[in-house]
Amino acid sequence: MEKTIEYLRKKITIQPELGLILGSGLGGLAEEITDPLYIPYEEIPNFPVSTVEGHVGRLVIGKLAGVPVLTMQGRFHYYEGYDMKTVTFPIRVMQSLGIKKLLVTNAAGGINLDYTAGAIMVITDHINLTGTNPLIGKNMEGYGPRFPDMTYSYTPKYVALAQKKAQELNIEVKTGVYVGLTGPSYETPAEIKFLRIIGGDAVGMSTVPEVIVARHGGMDVLGISCITNMAAGISGEALNHEEVMETANRVRGDFRSLVLAIIPDM
Ligand code: HPA
Repeated sequence: MEKTIEYLRKKITIQPELGLILGSGLGGLAEEITDPLYIPYEEIPNFPVSTVEGHVGRLVIGKLAGVPVLTMQGRFHYYEGYDMKTVTFPIRVMQSLGIKKLLVTNAAGGINLDYTAGAIMVITDHINLTGTNPLIGKNMEGYGPRFPDMTYSYTPKYVALAQKKAQELNIEVKTGVYVGLTGPSYETPAEIKFLRIIGGDAVGMSTVPEVIVARHGGMDVLGISCITNMAAGISGEALNHEEVMETANRVRGDFRSLVLAIIPDM
C-alpha cells in the first residue's frame, strides 16, 4: 500500500473527494471527467489488473460535475480469481488517499417483480451471500474497527438525495436491497425465488465486498444499480452478458444525468 500511495501521490495533483466505481457497461461516464489523468491499473505498483469484457481497467482522476473524483473505470471481481483483499484493495487506496465518499455503481439482475430491464435502483441495503467477508483476518486498526457496524451502510441522506435528483430530472428510480453473490454463473430460477423470499430486490456479483470495506474505513456510500435484465426464471428467457451490456448502454443517458446531478451535493 505504501508503494501504491507513493506512486499515486506523485501523479495526482488534485485532492479527490469522491471515489467512483463504474460497473459493467457504465464506464462511459469517465469520459465526462474534465482534465482527466488516466492511470492504467498495470502501471500502478501492487494494483490488480481487470479481465472482464466491458471493463477498461484504469483510474481516471479529474473533475466530474465540478467535483474532484478518483474513478475506477473497471473493477475487480471475486469470480475473476482474486481474493477478497485484492478485490477491495482499491477501496483501501481511496481511503489512504483521504477519500471519504464513495459512489459505487453496478449492473444487476432484477428480482423484484415491479422492476423491468433498464430500471435504475438506488441501493438501500445489501445481503452478503458471497460466503466470505473481505475483513476476515487480522484487523488493521489503522483502517477501522474489528466489528464495524453495517446499519447505515448506504448513507440514508445519499439515498434521499438520489431520489430527490431523480424526481427533479423526471427519471424514475426504484430503491431496494442488493444481494451480492460470487458468480460467475448466473443464478438459477430457484435461487432467484429464494433471494426474493429473503428480501432481495436485485442481484449481482460485485459491490458488497467494496461497500463492507468502505464502511469499515468510515466512508459514506451511495450505491446505484442498473437493472440490466430481469433475473433468471422471470421472463423465461436465458440470460447473457451481451444483454447486460446492451441494457446498460441503453440507460446510459439517464444514468449519466442522474449521477452528474447527485455528486455535487454528496
Ligand atoms: N445476476 C447476477 N449478476 C448480474 C445479473 C444477474 O441477473 N445481471 C447483471 N449482473
